[in-house]
Amino acid sequence: MKKYLFNDSNELAGQLARDFSAAVSEKAASGESLAVALSGGHTPKTFFEVLADQYRDSISWNNVVFFWGDERCVPPDNDESNYKMTNIALLSKIVIPSGNIHRVLGEDPPHNEALRYEEEIKEFIPESANGFPRFDWIFLGMGPDGHTASLFPGAPTLEEREKICVVATHPETGQKRISVTFPVLDNAKRVSFLVAGDSKAPVLKEIMESGDKPLPYPASMVNPQDGVLEWYLDKAAAPEL
Ligand code: 6PG
Repeated sequence: MKKYLFNDSNELAGQLARDFSAAVSEKAASGESLAVALSGGHTPKTFFEVLADQYRDSISWNNVVFFWGDERCVPPDNDESNYKMTNIALLSKIVIPSGNIHRVLGEDPPHNEALRYEEEIKEFIPESANGFPRFDWIFLGMGPDGHTASLFPGAPTLEEREKICVVATHPETGQKRISVTFPVLDNAKRVSFLVAGDSKAPVLKEIMESGDKPLPYPASMVNPQDGVLEWYLDKAAAPEL
């Protein structure tokens, strides 16, 4: 597990954008694309804005394929939509083939969309010998309760070992979500948690100090079998690191 500590979320976003640009360049050099799954919520917004402001013309966006690790089951113009946030912060500001953007159809019936999105992932993301898609890079956030993607503590979706996508329910709001499952997260080449803000500090401290002790937090359960697990953290979230 690699940890990168930054003074604030702006510094975190700046380094992550540099790392992202380098990863795209490496893929583009061999004519390949970087297949990523984005996280939602607020934390990645600054990262997306830095990409749009500072890398709009330097990153070869033809060599980037965007999926989402989770999405709220709302229309794409709804303020709750992870796609909407990403579109405003980044996608609307760059030149990228529309075919490279694979949004979850949050406006559609959740169970239908979980099945459809699973097929779309299978169509575009190479699978490993274990039969699961292998993303180049999955970005994850962490809620104050330790959830990640839309895998919430104690939810039955934590036990899913066959499906690629599931319908999840936010434990407080009841909002339906589409989320990829642990087999997908654990199959990625690179998984980066972006964790910022003091609301995350208590659970993050437990995770960072847990060693091999199992915790009830989904964010602590992500364990890439043949990949890199890293944490991009700001001081507010990790004051003791
Ligand atoms: C979502 C996310 C979710 C998010 C965390 C952290 O759709 O909400 O993907 O897992 O990453 O809840 O959210 P913040 O960045 O807003 O704190």
